[in-house]
Amino acid sequence: MKTPRHFLQFKDFSRAEFEYLFERAHRIKQQFKAYQKYWPLEDRTLVMIFEKASTRTRLSFEAGMHQLGGSAIYLNTRDSQLGRGEPVEDAAEVISRMSDVVMIRTYEQEIIERFASHSRVPVINGLTNEYHPCQIMADIFTFIEQRGSIQGKTVAWIGDSNNVCNTWLQAAEVLDFNVHVSTPPGYEVEPERAGLYGTDHFEQFADPMDATRDADLVTTDVWTSMGFEAENETRMKAFADWQVDAEMMRVAKRDAVFMHCLPAHRGEEVVADVIDGSQSVVWEEAENRLHTQKALLEFLVLGKVKE
Ligand code: CP
Ligand code: NVA
Repeated sequence: MKTPRHFLQFKDFSRAEFEYLFERAHRIKQQFKAYQKYWPLEDRTLVMIFEKASTRTRLSFEAGMHQLGGSAIYLNTRDSQLGRGEPVEDAAEVISRMSDVVMIRTYEQEIIERFASHSRVPVINGLTNEYHPCQIMADIFTFIEQRGSIQGKTVAWIGDSNNVCNTWLQAAEVLDFNVHVSTPPGYEVEPERAGLYGTDHFEQFADPMDATRDADLVTTDVWTSMGFEAENETRMKAFADWQVDAEMMRVAKRDAVFMHCLPAHRGEEVVADVIDGSQSVVWEEAENRLHTQKALLEFLVLGKVKE
């Protein structure tokens, strides 16, 4: 059996492969907007396994698979054997014999790696405690659409050094841009957990204003990620000064864009004036989950296509 390609973290793909995926996403988006039927995945099945809640990830994968002519099946831990202690390796053996591609949203990265090592078909990370590669693929595609190449640009990450932050850091190394991170003390980036090759592409700042200064893109995320709810009260206090507001946006470049993976908490990590303001591209960003993941599904199931 040939070992399938997986997308478990951002650095699983090369820069050339991302360039290909962004081109395909652009083409697939144009065709979709023109109501042109494109069914390369007819008779193919995506299985989606959710151990955490989701709106965008479920919707974009399920709608995307249907739009490509295939089917998507939703499983969660509450109403499948996955929540009753069936070994993840056994689940992978069975699920991958009945499907063409699998997407998983779970807790530790180790779980998805164990699943992938027993899967006959490609496995996609739909978010783990450590990474959220599909999100950053959509975010970078959105930046390219709005402002052109991201190479050499500066992204300011304000807040928690979570799964989304770690993925930005990996992306900076693969696609050659810089990330300026500012977190409260005690919540700094852990390079090993972020899976970084080196530290050339990121810098940590104690003051969020310093991280944001002259940035091309300013981004943040919730102070408490899924799975960390018990820390919520402590985090609310620790993160109070790491709120993206108009003053922070003013020190970024004049044409800087604001992004947020969503769901957002207005009045916590970002003020309403910024997320609902003219520099925000959060709705384009959310929509692009659909187009970029369609390109990803096409690539993982069929390889590179020539139309
Ligand atoms: N951004 C994102 O992954 O959203 P969901 O949690 O709604 O899937
Ligand atoms: N960091 C957030 C992202 C949600 C899409 C979480 O893991 O809950």
